[in-house]
Amino acid sequence: MTIEQHLSREFLRVVEEAAIASARTMGQGQRRYSDQVAVEAMRKAMDTVSMRGTIVIGEGERDEAPMLFIGEKVGRQMPDEPEVDIAVDPLEGTNLCATGEPNSIAVLAAANKGGLLHAPDCYMEKIIVGPAAKGAVHLDATPKENLQVIAKRLGRQVKDLVVIVLDRPRHEQLIEEIRSAGARIRLISDGDLSAGISAAVRGTNVHAVMGIGGAPEGVLAAAAIRCLNGGMQGRLVPTKEGQEERMRAMGITDPRRIFTERDLAPGPEIIFAACGVTDGTFMRGVRFFGHGARTSSLIMSLSDRMIRFIDSVRLDGTPDVVVEF
Ligand code: FBP
Repeated sequence: MTIEQHLSREFLRVVEEAAIASARTMGQGQRRYSDQVAVEAMRKAMDTVSMRGTIVIGEGERDEAPMLFIGEKVGRQMPDEPEVDIAVDPLEGTNLCATGEPNSIAVLAAANKGGLLHAPDCYMEKIIVGPAAKGAVHLDATPKENLQVIAKRLGRQVKDLVVIVLDRPRHEQLIEEIRSAGARIRLISDGDLSAGISAAVRGTNVHAVMGIGGAPEGVLAAAAIRCLNGGMQGRLVPTKEGQEERMRAMGITDPRRIFTERDLAPGPEIIFAACGVTDGTFMRGVRFFGHGARTSSLIMSLSDRMIRFIDSVRLDGTPDVVVEF
């Protein structure tokens, strides 16, 4: 049995638990608390999964995160269970949850041992596109050149493209260059992982994601992009003291290396699981109805070639609870 067949349903439950816990805090304006409850719920659910899991992308280094830190062992850890490397972001878009804005999700990716890049918690310069433009864009090309090639591959003009960019001062020049190339832009306040998934799915009216976001989100995005057959390039951007050294310790000898989606998530088997916390493009946010909760999730697996959109209703309370649609 592949790890995908063995663990997809389990990971669905793990992201649902994290999403339900953080959704309870939606709009409370307490991003750290929203994150904390998601981490606790994800960690608790993770420990019931029959696997020998290791967190490779997590909440931070061991000394700065009490749970789901890099290197932490998770799962039941029985000798006959599969070994898996796991990247987690229990609440991607903490501000989005704290303010009730769209596109915050609970998310994880899992692969065979060694199937996900071990990257430090720094920034990553990224370009993400759909299957049509896979292999055609390059991080060292200008935004105009990349937009021209995306437009060509999609059989349209640059003015017909929509690019998502995180609304940050560091992107002033990038935004200017995209504008002068003639493409349209959607600026987002947070959540470049959800944006990356949108870019890889036809019909979302998103054709690329460009700019610098979190490296952990970059590895998670690469796992999703591989399942969706999209294209991605990423380059780590160390901004804090010690991050370059940490990169070397993790085996990344060339700090300027450009990684493709396959370098970031090389595993032959990959599971990507996400559950909506607030309403988003692919998943609705958690809805509580008094006797339970309804969740909306996306589970993808690479070697199985399976993309599942899952709508779950969890009932609590007495056996005679009423299910609402
Ligand atoms: P959090 O969930 O950790 O708040 O991250 C949200 C996010 O917007 C990511 O989607 C993005 O990759 C990163 O933050 C960008 O970092 P910064 O806010 O420092 O520009």
